[in-house]
Amino acid sequence: MDVILLGPPGVGKGTQGVLLADAMSWQRVVTGDLLRAAKDAGTPLGQQAQQYMSIGELVPDQLIIEMVKEKLAALPAGTGVLFDGFPRTEAQASAFSMMLKAMGRKIDYVIVLEASDEVLTERISGRRSCPSCGSVYNTVLAPPQREGVCDKDGTPLFHRADDTVATVQNRLNVYSTETEPLIAYYEGSRATVHHIKGDQGVDEVQGEVCQALGV
Ligand code: AP5
Repeated sequence: MDVILLGPPGVGKGTQGVLLADAMSWQRVVTGDLLRAAKDAGTPLGQQAQQYMSIGELVPDQLIIEMVKEKLAALPAGTGVLFDGFPRTEAQASAFSMMLKAMGRKIDYVIVLEASDEVLTERISGRRSCPSCGSVYNTVLAPPQREGVCDKDGTPLFHRADDTVATVQNRLNVYSTETEPLIAYYEGSRATVHHIKGDQGVDEVQGEVCQALGV
């Protein structure tokens, strides 16, 4: 089963993606994580991406499409895949659909997570992430057992450089102009689209996501 997690920054795509992938043994393709890894590795892609990410703008479509194509080619056959943060523009969605077709895959479900800008801003300002397993915490809403350290693997957590007030506002604007139209795009496709309230507790959201996917 191939699933897209769609929604604004901070709505819980990463949080739910890790839980679901762990429970179902699915792979995750998270373009934000791939770009951060490229930046940390100092690759040309990472250096180019950094100038867009630091101000909350989207990285150019062609760079993203090439990166995802490479990632998809390396996935083991027959595994379920969760796409988090991709696609984010109509150009990406249409290139993605051609890529999937060529590989004999298709998007089965699109899960749209929704929450108000106030909730998103509060969540993002307290976010801490594990660079190793991708687990996401929040200093106020979902703190780790030991401050600053991942519960799962003991790795020190980090605070994302783009989680600043100014950048978050731009990311919310970019989401509504560039990415939100993809909801209508997928509603007009063969994928099944489910809208889920992301401003509930993590377990409640997870329960609704699993129910929507029938898993
Ligand atoms: P990316 O890394 O994808 O960031 P994003 O889409 O802005 O999403 P976030 O990671 O901020 O939020 P999330 O929904 O995953 O929430 P999370 O689970 O962490 O992209 C970063 C940048 O990379 C972009 O701005 C762009 O520049 C570039 N980029 C990436 N993909 C691209 C693409 N395809 N094209 C072009 N450019 C691209 O949760 C947030 C917080 O809330 C955490 O603290 C968490 O603990 C807490 N939380 C989560 N759920 C709950 C809950 N139910 N209750 C209480 N707290 C909760």
